[in-house]
Amino acid sequence: MGINTIIVVGVGQMGSGIAQVAAMAGYKVYLNDVDEELISKGVNLINKNLQKNAEKGKIDDSQKQSTLDLIFSAPNLAECKDCDMAIEAIVEDITIKSELFSKLDALLPPDAILASNTSSLPITEIASYTKAPERVVGMHFMNPVPVMQLVEVISGQLTDDEVLSVTQDVARTMGKTPVAVDDYPGFVSNRVLMPMINEAVFCVYEGVASPEGVDQVMKLGMNHPMGPLALADLIGLDTCLSIMEVLYEGFSDPKYRPCPLLRRYVNAGLLGKKAGRGFYNYT
Ligand code: CAA
Repeated sequence: MGINTIIVVGVGQMGSGIAQVAAMAGYKVYLNDVDEELISKGVNLINKNLQKNAEKGKIDDSQKQSTLDLIFSAPNLAECKDCDMAIEAIVEDITIKSELFSKLDALLPPDAILASNTSSLPITEIASYTKAPERVVGMHFMNPVPVMQLVEVISGQLTDDEVLSVTQDVARTMGKTPVAVDDYPGFVSNRVLMPMINEAVFCVYEGVASPEGVDQVMKLGMNHPMGPLALADLIGLDTCLSIMEVLYEGFSDPKYRPCPLLRRYVNAGLLGKKAGRGFYNYT
């Protein structure tokens, strides 16, 4: 099961980062999204990041160009019919993901790997919408993808061992460290991270400290590179809320109840950095 060509479906913040590290590792990468404008935005993001790296002297102009030369726009999903692997990084909605996986299953060669970058939806359920659940795997990258070392590689109930092992090799080739994780709500990363973020929101909600105060405690006291509320803004408050809901429903345990203030921010459209405002103002 050799991997040479990868299609990344969904080229927002996460997908464009995944495409970048894949192309930098020498994979031929196709980019697909719901329209060509979104694909162009993804390519621009990659270009900008590579340019920054070139300016810092981390890569030279020829490395930048050879990375870009490996990236192809694929507005029509059918163009992925010869790809060895698909990595999905679309919206966290099980209905939309299930439709996509069922299409990918029909389009890609039978031995291709179908990976999802979902941050919390069950891999086993996503796999159930394909005719070959053994080739579906979780490949959960961290934000910002070009910087963060970890990839959680999640095995669904029916994932084949070889699929797991090849996916871990692909992560290593991309310069990442894969960690094998089982398919339970939030996997490990978000099962540990999100309750901490949610508790930080509770601290603000209950008036224990301001967002700045909470973040300072965690940065200066625990050596976290950024405070939990700044991190929540970076991840997106809507994503944080939906992961808390997955944990709450998945474990039927009240300890995962989302903070009402988190819900109120999301309802108000204060989604964090991408919206210009969350716990902090970015405008
Ligand atoms: N894309 C690419 N590179 C980026 C970047 C981005 N969005 N943001 C920062 N960087 C790079 C910078 O260019 C810089 O590179 P150099 O060292 O080559 O100069 C480096 O990262 C450090 O950046 P800064 O100096 O600007 O700032 P910093 O030292 O505060 O680091 C950070 C920024 C890497 C984001 C750091 O604060 C950090 O590690 N934060 C925690 C991030 C984290 O926890 N991510 C996981 C989120 S959870 C998740 O993603 C899973 C999920 O399902 C929700």
